[in-house]
Amino acid sequence: MTDYVGRYGTPLYVYRLDEVRKTATALLRGLPQPSRLYYSLKANPHPSVVRELTAQGVHAEISSCGELRAALSAGQNPADILYTGPGKSIHDMRTAIRSGVRRFSVESRTERGRLGEAAETEASDVEYLVRINAPGPAAGSAGLRMTGVPSQFGVDFEQARAQPELFRARGRLRPVGMHFFPATNVADPTALFEEFRLSVETAAALRESTGFDPELIDLGGGFAAPFAKPGDLPDYSSLRESLEPVLDQNFPGWRDGRPSIAFESGRHLTASCGTLLTTVLDVKQSGGRTYVVLDAGTNVLGGMAGLGRIMTPAAVPLRVAGAGPEAAMAGQPPSQAVTLVGPLCTPLDVLSRSASIEPIEEGDVLQIPHTGAYGLTASLLAFLSHPPATEVVVDGTTEVHVRRLELTETPLKGVAR
Ligand SMILES: Cc1ncc(COP(=O)(O)O)c(C=O)c1O
Repeated sequence: MTDYVGRYGTPLYVYRLDEVRKTATALLRGLPQPSRLYYSLKANPHPSVVRELTAQGVHAEISSCGELRAALSAGQNPADILYTGPGKSIHDMRTAIRSGVRRFSVESRTERGRLGEAAETEASDVEYLVRINAPGPAAGSAGLRMTGVPSQFGVDFEQARAQPELFRARGRLRPVGMHFFPATNVADPTALFEEFRLSVETAAALRESTGFDPELIDLGGGFAAPFAKPGDLPDYSSLRESLEPVLDQNFPGWRDGRPSIAFESGRHLTASCGTLLTTVLDVKQSGGRTYVVLDAGTNVLGGMAGLGRIMTPAAVPLRVAGAGPEAAMAGQPPSQAVTLVGPLCTPLDVLSRSASIEPIEEGDVLQIPHTGAYGLTASLLAFLSHPPATEVVVDGTTEVHVRRLELTETPLKGVAR
């Protein structure tokens, strides 16, 4: 790590492809067989990361044309890509269809109408899944519920049941499946199994009431990972054994691909591959607290913290430079609680309100683990116009790719959309 800092400075993200490979292999092995796994590019759209997952047989789940470009440049076959997410514009849909994407998840009747229009205009046959907002489990163990509560995602179960025509072919559109994504960051494997079980049973109930027999059931995900703090990835290897009987019972043809079963994962696949390196610019006292000012703020990491979402006060950086060698530093007992802040001119630019850390001083470099998902591209990249952090991709000891994203100005006068 110290070498990379010497070469590229900070703030610097390091992504390890060997770790991506290891994580993908373990998750794939723990899922029911056969099933397909989609990688949610929103977690980290870096093409080298996506290319590694492509090589592992993981398909792309995208929610924008930017993610589409990243997926295609990473060698994804457009016919295998799933386009999801609320608020897809007709421009997004047409661009994706023109690029060869043929499978979309629709979040409402309106979206299905728009997708039909896009398919007609592009003169292409398109398949769709209906995303369902199914009732959630009684006890909440999710990091964040997407459905199972009132939300902008999917079609409420009762509404879907009352609209069997949502599941009928129309024009160039053919319904092929149902899509669920009830929750994210469900660290307890038993709780995640329960989410999947409920989704399978909901799919079976919808088949009964609508007469629609799905060819594909996307059970979504919820596979968790620590964010910006040390810890282990949850072990989901028991899922295969627990979920297969549920599928046997509700969809007996699933082992022969009727229906085929899919899962989605973002953070679990990439969080652990990433480390953020950041330099201490100042250490100061105010009102009895220690403030550590870093060159990485919410423009580099945890931009969604402003929504009260992902930053936890437990982010624990490890010191890699300064007074001692990195090996000796890791694992040292924490000796003080500090507030980690970034260089942005707002009191909201806080990475952690009480990070436990050994004494540090100006010039030290901290490493923040588990930042390979929802790191740079989930941050306030343009705020205050600092250059985005550099990203280096390594595989073992081999450096694979180094880049820095740039925000550029494109004059649009007279340019058609
Ligand atoms: C439809 C859908 N798929 C996948 C994901 C990725 O979630 P995670 O990174 O927690 O796996 C999300 C996250 O919000 C989502 O809404």
